Amino acid sequence: MMFFGGDYNPEQWDEAVWKEDDALMRRAGVNLATVGVFSWALLEPEEGRYDFAWLDAHLDRLHANGVSVDLATPTASPPPWFTLAHPDALPVGPDGTRLVHGSRDTYCLAAPAYRTAARNIAAALAERYGGHPAVAMWHVHNEYATVCWCDHTAAAFRDWLRERHGSLEALNEAWGTAFWSQRYGAWEQVLPPRASQWHKNPGQHLDFRRFWSDVVLTAYREQRDEIRAHSDRPVTTNMMLPGYQNLDLWALGREVDLVTIDHYPDAPGLDAAADTAFAADRARSFAGGRPWLLMEQGTSTVYDTGRILGKEPGEILRHTIGHIARGSEGALFFQWRQSRAGAETWHSAMLPHAGADSRIFREVQAVGEAVRRLGEVEGSTVTAEVAVLHDADAWWAMEVDGLPSKDLGYHDSLRRAHRALWDAGVTADFAHPEHNLGRYRFVVAPALFLLSDAGAENLRGYVEGGGTLLVQHYSGVVDDRLHARLGGYPASPLREALGIRVEEHRPLREHERIVLSDGTQAAVWSESLRAKGAEAVVTYTHGMLAGKPALTRHRFGAGEAWYLSTRLDDSGYAALITQLAGSGTSGLETVTRRATDGRSWQFLLNHNTDPISLPEPGHDLLTGMTVAELPAGGCAVLRKNP
Ligand code: GLA
Repeated sequence: MMFFGGDYNPEQWDEAVWKEDDALMRRAGVNLATVGVFSWALLEPEEGRYDFAWLDAHLDRLHANGVSVDLATPTASPPPWFTLAHPDALPVGPDGTRLVHGSRDTYCLAAPAYRTAARNIAAALAERYGGHPAVAMWHVHNEYATVCWCDHTAAAFRDWLRERHGSLEALNEAWGTAFWSQRYGAWEQVLPPRASQWHKNPGQHLDFRRFWSDVVLTAYREQRDEIRAHSDRPVTTNMMLPGYQNLDLWALGREVDLVTIDHYPDAPGLDAAADTAFAADRARSFAGGRPWLLMEQGTSTVYDTGRILGKEPGEILRHTIGHIARGSEGALFFQWRQSRAGAETWHSAMLPHAGADSRIFREVQAVGEAVRRLGEVEGSTVTAEVAVLHDADAWWAMEVDGLPSKDLGYHDSLRRAHRALWDAGVTADFAHPEHNLGRYRFVVAPALFLLSDAGAENLRGYVEGGGTLLVQHYSGVVDDRLHARLGGYPASPLREALGIRVEEHRPLREHERIVLSDGTQAAVWSESLRAKGAEAVVTYTHGMLAGKPALTRHRFGAGEAWYLSTRLDDSGYAALITQLAGSGTSGLETVTRRATDGRSWQFLLNHNTDPISLPEPGHDLLTGMTVAELPAGGCAVLRKNP
């Protein structure tokens, strides 16, 4: 069975509405509801006094209606009493401002009082509902995101640093405190990277990011383990949008029983379809290839961009199928019924303010029916032959002050590489630079500014063993302590595989464009490099770089390593990626397959404005018929016989 449903917040409504919810959930084919995400104030009206009667009733009602529950711990939104009882457990910004209740997510994950309160409510819920027949899974917290710079954080940060570096000497060395008179003479002097005068110490920034990720994981594990003591159902926490990198998601992927993500594209249209694929491929990768679940999506876009844009007719279905095609075990929304009051009154829902007689609810019903028809796909997996390298350290490293160009963005580079593969119709995984990459025929490293020694060694081994690797500019420049690589970039084992040596970074001016020897255009960045065994495929034609390599290729061992030292424009980059990765069917997003036990299914989405003929007609699960053509904006899921 595939999951279909969404966040359900019945405490916003009354009995008459609950009755209608039951009927409409049946009509829409809802089989999973996420309950309790923001219910702390009702569940524990005063510290230590629980009221579960109302939740008992909702769980029983949902169960009787055939709807399973993804039961949340409410710890993302402590109630007002918490603020008054534990003012020291509220979050403090880098500038020292302490936040109070009035919104949500007001807590410090490093504060003992918060951690105890969170563990207690998780334990109380698990004890009461661990064996409840409605509970299908557990949803710890919601989108772990809050960062804090308070004194509790400072104390925990020092403990973490002691553990990581062993001695103050080692920390001074790692952070390069010999410069700017930053040397620490006692642990008490070490602080989180709070607001300061100018450039922050880069090592302090990176270690703080790593530390906070570990704090989150520990807080998650504490709740998870309380739940596991009373329940054998899977436990998860929902990952935030890809643009947030508050956590090492590879590490989180190893801690959850099921990877779940929230996904809200910024705008409708083709970019949203590409963004869906980007988010879904990441989720599958963090899940280690196993099935995962889309925990939240919207029936419109969200307010982050300042405008809540509607999805076009058919688009909710395409996004849903786009996620399932890449491994999701269904599709859930935030939220079931649009709020009448409160902070998210204007956020879209499965059931809008207008009620069931609305385009949106009709589309939701159709999506529910489509998900039901895909039941046989459950448990099947997607195999990709191409990977994009992604590492939290490399992302955090690019956030430090004082870098040579503000025009290089980690997340943008990853999206661009993935988009070029998506445009070419190639399904990609994400992989960590230290993962075994042997199963991929092509690997692209769009932004590995930071690359560990082990990562550099691993990439060299990948090429030597027969892989094709494309490393993009500004990669392998610093080690995992943010110390610059000396003697030429990138890090030496990778430099050998690439057969090049980068001597100088030459960022370009804003709006500056350059033309390369093959006529392609580039912007943002250039480098002065020498070929040391590699062949210059394309050269620079301007200034002091004229005649020097811009794009190189090096046969190394049984494989090939390419280095791209500038930022090609979209068409040039697309051509290079297609040359190296191959291409699928253009205009038609063809996911190779989801497969299991000799059975497989091919997912096809037509993003064109014209109908498109399928490469091969087949039995479509969505319509139950043989289809040979997809209308504009149409989707099909073909059952393929082995
Ligand atoms: C996040 C949260 C939800 C809701 C949505 C709105 O994903 O998890 O609680 O606020 O955003 O888009």
